[in-house]
Amino acid sequence: MTAAPNQHPWWQRGVIYQIYPRSFMDTNGDGIGDLPGIISKLDYLEWLGVDALWLSPIYPSPMADYGYDVSDYTAIHPIFGTMEDFDRLLAAAHERGLRIILDLVPNHTSDQHPWFLESRSSRDNPKRDWYIWRDPAPDGCPPNNWLSVFGGSAWEWDEKTGQYYYHAFLKEQPDLNWRNPEVRAAMLDVMRFWLDKGVDGFRVDVMWHLIKDEQFRDNPPNPDYRPGVDLPYDSLLPVFSTDQPEVHEVVGLMRRLTDEYTDRVLIGEVYLPVDLLVRYYGVEQSGAHLPFNFQLLVLPWEAAEIYRAVTEYEASLPPDGWPNWVLSNHDKPRIATRVGEAQARVAAMLLLTLRGTPTLYYGDEIGLQDVPIPRELARDPQGLRLGDLRFSRDPARTPMQWEDGPGAGFTTGQPWLPLAEDYRRRNVKVQREDPGSMLSLYRRLLELRRREPALQVGGYVPVGLSGNVMAYLREHEGRRFLVALNLGHTAGSLVPEHVELRGRVVVGTRLEREGSRVEGAIELAGDDGIVALLDG
Ligand code: NOJ
Repeated sequence: MTAAPNQHPWWQRGVIYQIYPRSFMDTNGDGIGDLPGIISKLDYLEWLGVDALWLSPIYPSPMADYGYDVSDYTAIHPIFGTMEDFDRLLAAAHERGLRIILDLVPNHTSDQHPWFLESRSSRDNPKRDWYIWRDPAPDGCPPNNWLSVFGGSAWEWDEKTGQYYYHAFLKEQPDLNWRNPEVRAAMLDVMRFWLDKGVDGFRVDVMWHLIKDEQFRDNPPNPDYRPGVDLPYDSLLPVFSTDQPEVHEVVGLMRRLTDEYTDRVLIGEVYLPVDLLVRYYGVEQSGAHLPFNFQLLVLPWEAAEIYRAVTEYEASLPPDGWPNWVLSNHDKPRIATRVGEAQARVAAMLLLTLRGTPTLYYGDEIGLQDVPIPRELARDPQGLRLGDLRFSRDPARTPMQWEDGPGAGFTTGQPWLPLAEDYRRRNVKVQREDPGSMLSLYRRLLELRRREPALQVGGYVPVGLSGNVMAYLREHEGRRFLVALNLGHTAGSLVPEHVELRGRVVVGTRLEREGSRVEGAIELAGDDGIVALLDG
């Protein structure tokens, strides 16, 4: 038995939409998106039918990592607007029933944050231990072999005080020492500041990095490392620098604080295999409400892989652990580029019909593709530092395409990253009018999901896999939907197991299929998917 929909909090029933603020909507012509821009698009987001907006960081930052290097946790970067703009955004979103989730970046600060400036000023500064300082190895080398995700050693030598500091990302992003109670208290105060304002929750950046091995042991080599394919960071297994047992204490503190407020959500960014990922739910609901599940971002796009992954994930969830699914984000290639435009429609149907909270990345709803960025316009430090633009995240961060005019309706100025060449054809304005567009498909799926408890909170029952076709049921109080998806480009069919298949297609990746009957066997063209309401 599943509980009634109204017994489920909003973050279980709803759909999260990720906004990368630099690229969403610019209102002052500087080529960079801003908070008034987001406010101006709330009507669109309400029309689209999402429930919550997660904003990538909007705080003051030198922008070495585009906001993931925070220099003040309780203010707004002037490039995005003012605190008054933020308050207006929060109020206007809430008026429309839209929630606001902020990005919390607690693992590291900017090297320009006053805490770090103090910490690096002398060895006996009271904030010295707020960061991770170590003496050199006897030969003067870094204290251990830990690597930075963005390339090179994770240790930076500080001439003035004669020690190294640890940075899992850029040297401009020193890691905080979460073993220090003062750091914990300071970051919980940051959370309180925003929760008191009324934000609906946090997406916690690199949650699994927060605590490092107390003995700073060397990481072992990764036997599966593929040089030239994987990030150099992946040449070692980060068993001592990430996912330490004590991290769950810290997540527990964040959760207890979040639960002091009504109806808020704690989401964790955690890239780990499923068996380790689900530990971030904590024992008896003491961890994150939603440790992000990135399997759809990383698995090969094959029905057998995905079907198996869903079953495994469902089986691994702790009691009361609510599932979630992410299809794209600002760190990975876009779904339409990974699987192609036609298959991206199938992916949309998968994302919005699996059991669990979906997170949808801005622009995916119009099928935005990765945009090739010429070297001279590259911005992302990951690609630039590694000297290899294959690792650049810029292509997935380009401006939203609103209309066919200059600047795609995103800006009247020069966009901070180039627009896709196809923006005159691929934009919100054009797709709104076209019932066959990706946007219209997203909207129909979102509308169906909002209307049908079976899709929001119903059970998940796998009912078959045949070649590249997979099928499952979602059901609630006798109302049953069958979802059948062809993850391949050629036609396929499937006879669902244990279901008498008689029903009517309510949403199809191809519009012409909607309203038609399904009986006996499901026949799907290549790149085809259907959601069918089964006869009662
Ligand atoms: C994860 C964020 O999603 C990514 O964009 C950022 O570069 C790193 N954390 C470092 O904060």
